Amino acid sequence: MAEAANLAPPAASGHSQVDATGRLRHLITLQGLSRETITRILDAAEQFLAPPEHLAVRSNVMAGRTVANLFFEPSTRTRASFELAAARLGADVLNLDVKTSSRKKGESILDTIYTLEAMQCDVFVVRDAAVGVPQMIADAVRPGVAVLNAGEAHVNHPTQGLLDALTLRLARPDLENVTLAIVGDLAHSRVARSAYEAFNTLGIGAIHLVAPDGMMLDEHEYPNAQRFNELAPGIEQADAIMALRIQHERIDGNESLLSSADYHEQFGITERNLKLCRKSPLIMHPGPMNRGVEIDTFCADGPRSLITEQVRNGVAIRMALLAEVDSSARQNHGE
Ligand code: NCD
Repeated sequence: MAEAANLAPPAASGHSQVDATGRLRHLITLQGLSRETITRILDAAEQFLAPPEHLAVRSNVMAGRTVANLFFEPSTRTRASFELAAARLGADVLNLDVKTSSRKKGESILDTIYTLEAMQCDVFVVRDAAVGVPQMIADAVRPGVAVLNAGEAHVNHPTQGLLDALTLRLARPDLENVTLAIVGDLAHSRVARSAYEAFNTLGIGAIHLVAPDGMMLDEHEYPNAQRFNELAPGIEQADAIMALRIQHERIDGNESLLSSADYHEQFGITERNLKLCRKSPLIMHPGPMNRGVEIDTFCADGPRSLITEQVRNGVAIRMALLAEVDSSARQNHGE
């Protein structure tokens, strides 16, 4: 069996995500974003975080604007998170139902975009199973329109990377002292790739990539991480562990995988396997969780779990991003 699946993402295209004033014009990938830019977005998102038990923070900076959620792949939390983020900024929100969308009837994605532009949609939030779709849309939209990537095949999930970074930064402001172990199906994971980009750019202490053979990232990807094909050495020194779901929908039937039971025993983030850790690590997971496979309830719901915080912080990250790209798009349009 091959050690690593050859699923390296294409190099980021030349299309600039950043406008003349340094603000994000679109968000397609975290590749190439500076530490200053990422830090500024995390700082902006913190302004949208209300203390627990308080009312959600609201603003009307996007009043009169329309955000279209185009999810051509299933999603619950990311779509809900974008919808709430847009609503809390005062925008109108359109959720295009993939099951009834014209894409199924053979209309090209760009025809769908042009149709929605004619209805005065200002921001497109796009999730698609194919590599390159968010960039293609960003290249095609009018000057006053912005695009946010909400999950692109196995290669990019920038808003997830930013919410993971915000969550761990809030729990451990001394990120430079933190060892993060990302455990699971790395080869097929856009979450792992975007998390690596965010944490590496922010100067985290160490990133351990832990995966069974066949699920590791290609050797040339992410040189600043240490790789482990066994759990024990990968998590022994971890301050935080991010567990990932096995991406069955991206794995072709010929790849040989561990059974769910063997995976749970050997790579699961479980009460038993946490005994391999010297410290008591924080636990992260992007969701949706498969309890009994990559994680158990003891870890998912325990006192060290940040999983609910990740969801909460996700809305704030998306508010910060929507506000920024919309403001940049308006200026680009001369408004
Ligand atoms: C992830 C995704 O869609 O990539 N989920 C999410 O956005 N919260 C992870 C997954 O599907 O396993």
